[in-house]
Amino acid sequence: MSECYRLNLTRRPRRMRRTASLRALACETEVLPKHLIQPVFVIEGEGAPEPIESMPGIFRLSIADLIKECRELVTLGISGVALFPKLDASLKSDDGREALNPETLVLRAIRAIKAEVPEITVIADLALDPYTVHGHDGLWDAAAQDLANDATVEVLAEMAVLAAEAGVDIVAPSDMMDGRVAAIRAALDGNDFEKTAIMAYSAKFASAYYGPFRDAVGSASAAGTHSLDKRTYQLNPANRREALTEITLDEDEGADILMVKPAGPYLDIIREVREETELPLAAYQVSGEYAQIMAAAERGWLDLERCRDESLLAIRRAGADMILTYFAKAFAAR
Ligand code: PBG
Repeated sequence: MSECYRLNLTRRPRRMRRTASLRALACETEVLPKHLIQPVFVIEGEGAPEPIESMPGIFRLSIADLIKECRELVTLGISGVALFPKLDASLKSDDGREALNPETLVLRAIRAIKAEVPEITVIADLALDPYTVHGHDGLWDAAAQDLANDATVEVLAEMAVLAAEAGVDIVAPSDMMDGRVAAIRAALDGNDFEKTAIMAYSAKFASAYYGPFRDAVGSASAAGTHSLDKRTYQLNPANRREALTEITLDEDEGADILMVKPAGPYLDIIREVREETELPLAAYQVSGEYAQIMAAAERGWLDLERCRDESLLAIRRAGADMILTYFAKAFAAR
């Protein structure tokens, strides 16, 4: 026995991992339903929920079903919904003018939710991709082969005022045009909507993980491709410093909440932004992150619940206050 090598340790971190209650006491990060926002897709009419093939468990809902869904989400303790309309192809145009129709689908959805389930926070995306035939987030300048920045910003500011009139709590510009947060703030304030908050998609990367979402809102089919090239406006996935520039600009322009998107592949950015700003920080676990976990779980290659929970925990640990995630309802119902 005396020959045996004997460790003489004073520090044994494993002591605090020995029992469930010790582990609970030492736990540093939590994900609670109140941290989560459920993105929801809304369609015209009274039809049954439409499944989205690349997003198992997620459906496009009529306004009536959306109301029911919001009631369930509130009961489960979820704080908010982010609305995305899927328009009939006949309503899409080159300039996305349906976005400024005061009776457009998403505005009716906002009014209905705020009338029936006022306690849930309603977030409306501001971008033209559900409304344009080309699927881009703004007005496409064919000659320049680029989005027309300043003209797009004007439309976004008008969309913001319409959403505020409909009663939305938060508008969320997801387009990445320069200067849009300041313009939206000015338009809201100019129309006496100084209480409407802005969640800025500040560091939104030109990611391949948006594929299933483009199926869900039909912006991919409109563009004829999944891999619609948005690299002239969304951030280069290689760029960390440029993401911080966008964060600083949106903060200076008056954003109330900043966002990093996608979440899982960009945890370093979330951490860096967390250390850079005092504002609330959102992270968007996007459609492709959801689809990856669901697909692997369907094959029996990953444990769905454990991977889901771990993916959300990692995003909170990186520094996000709130998470937009397609797992919100399932997580809260667990
Ligand atoms: C577009 C928009 C996108 C998402 C939210 N708003 C896709 C895109 O930029 O093409 C992606 C969300 C997801 O993938 O879950 N304004």
